[in-house]
Amino acid sequence: MGFGNWYDENVVPRLIQCACSSPAVSALRDKVVPLASGKVFEIGCGGGLNHEFYDLGKVTSFSGMDPSAKGLQYAREAVAKKGWAADVRQGYGEAIPFEDESFDCVVCTFTLCSVGDQAQTLRELRRILRPGGRLLYAEHGSAPDQRVRNWQGRIEPVWKRLAGGCHLTRPVSSAISAAGFAPLQTGERYAPKTPRWAGWMEWGEAAKAG
Ligand SMILES: C[S@@+](CC[C@H](N)C(=O)[O-])C[C@H]1O[C@@H](n2cnc3c(N)ncnc32)[C@H](O)[C@@H]1O
Repeated sequence: MGFGNWYDENVVPRLIQCACSSPAVSALRDKVVPLASGKVFEIGCGGGLNHEFYDLGKVTSFSGMDPSAKGLQYAREAVAKKGWAADVRQGYGEAIPFEDESFDCVVCTFTLCSVGDQAQTLRELRRILRPGGRLLYAEHGSAPDQRVRNWQGRIEPVWKRLAGGCHLTRPVSSAISAAGFAPLQTGERYAPKTPRWAGWMEWGEAAKAG
């Protein structure tokens, strides 16, 4: 294994555990994850940081997928701690191995920044949702202010290499709408105590449209 692969597989998951459990990020998880109900699928479930926010009284089954072996190890530990039976698999959002219309709800937190192909992943998330099913999301992305966007563009090439392919300049809610989801409720803001280039947050609930 080269240094790059070793870094991505061993260091990045630890960095993510740290950065993604900050109070600002946890506050956003708390806005969307407890809304999950029925048959739930979580994309990019590595790390397992959402498990403490799921409402077991509303979720009837849980499936999740992530490409990172270390991330999946953390996710399986979180599943075991929660004490629920869950189907947690290795794989990519661009090709989800589930039938069309299999889920009531899809959860996607801080993952659209890292997938290889954001539009294809959103198409897959839409495909596996039943008609009227809901996408719950919380993501960071391209900031509304030009000066911040300029910094995001400058920092992104280095950041992507250090942070497991995480992009800073991707749109969030507009990409979700473009993929065929109708917003039900959304929010956006700069996260407190976070550099603005990494801190533009968008979250919400969107229904599979059409
Ligand atoms: C910043 S972490 C967020 C992890 C978790 N979703 C959370 O909210 O803490 C990004 C996650 O996306 C995963 N990821 C990267 N590429 C992916 C892909 N093509 N499909 C699905 N997940 C992917 C990474 O392995 C990592 O677990």
